[in-house]
Amino acid sequence: MNHETPAISQAVDALRNGELVGMPTETVYGLAADASNADAVARVFAAKGRPSFNPLISHVADLDAARVEGELDERAGTLADAFWPGPLTMVVPVAATAKSSELARAGLSTIGLRVPAHALARELLSAFGGPLSAPSANPSGKLSPTDADAVTRELGEAVSQVLDGGPCDSGIESTIVSVLPGEPVRLLRPGAISRDRLEALLGPMEAAEKNKISAPGQLSSHYAPRAGLRLEAEEAEPGEVLLGFGPAAPPDCMNLSPSGDTVEAAANLYRSLRELDASGAHTIAVMPVPDKGLGEAINDRLRRAAAPRD
Ligand code: TXA
Ligand code: MG
Repeated sequence: MNHETPAISQAVDALRNGELVGMPTETVYGLAADASNADAVARVFAAKGRPSFNPLISHVADLDAARVEGELDERAGTLADAFWPGPLTMVVPVAATAKSSELARAGLSTIGLRVPAHALARELLSAFGGPLSAPSANPSGKLSPTDADAVTRELGEAVSQVLDGGPCDSGIESTIVSVLPGEPVRLLRPGAISRDRLEALLGPMEAAEKNKISAPGQLSSHYAPRAGLRLEAEEAEPGEVLLGFGPAAPPDCMNLSPSGDTVEAAANLYRSLRELDASGAHTIAVMPVPDKGLGEAINDRLRRAAAPRD
């Protein structure tokens, strides 16, 4: 049985092809991509022009789908019962079964999850059958779009289609809370669900530890390779493995993008670092990545990974 409208089937096909789709939600329009496809997620970052990789929210169809992506404890279950579907995003530990790519989480060991309430978003998510990364569908630094025309105006080139779900009900983004083991529930971003409504259920909430949460690259839970990183390397020295970039790299090394494409490099970044790290090398020597396109975000991430740690 197939009750999908042509627009939904078309959007599902586009998403399966790694294309981006404008998705209405009850808060703001999202720029949706298959969260499991790092190439598609890299294109989201490219379209938004973000200077660094912020973690993206994975949108899922229901609580069961959320549990595939993240570990929801009893508190998270209570919040889900009360507010999902709806404009609440919960940051929880990523589950071993998660389909969302590491790039979608910006390498974090936590994941932001939300079950949107908008009818078209729900239809799209159940027809697609997997998590969708969807940041607000605006270029970085601009206002979030609250109707389909605004998405077309701002990001028309990047999307293969915009599902028109009319004007958004709320017009302000979802409320984000973290629900992490051994920590109180924290409010990370005020939004469409008021603090009062959350506190009615949970009691007083603590604010985010600002520097910790708002700078994901510095989180202790943030993925940093065990090996050291040496940047701007031309070749590997003894004890090092080389992470290449572009056509000048030796053919036998791991290469972020043999053709020198920064979108492809972004899609390969976390997996490549993890694999080289697992090789047991003392240092990962990384060839220069130009600062153009997603190169700026890649270099930001590489510098953080290379910085001395305690
Ligand atoms: O209402 C909304 O939430 C909209 C609609 C489209 O769903 N989406 C949205 O996404 O506002 P975005 O990417 O513009 O904002 C997501 C925020 C980011 O600022 C990011 O810092 C935070 O969520 N976030 C996502 N995952 C996180 C994580 N694992 N840890 C901390 N913060 C996270
Ligand atoms: Mg936004």
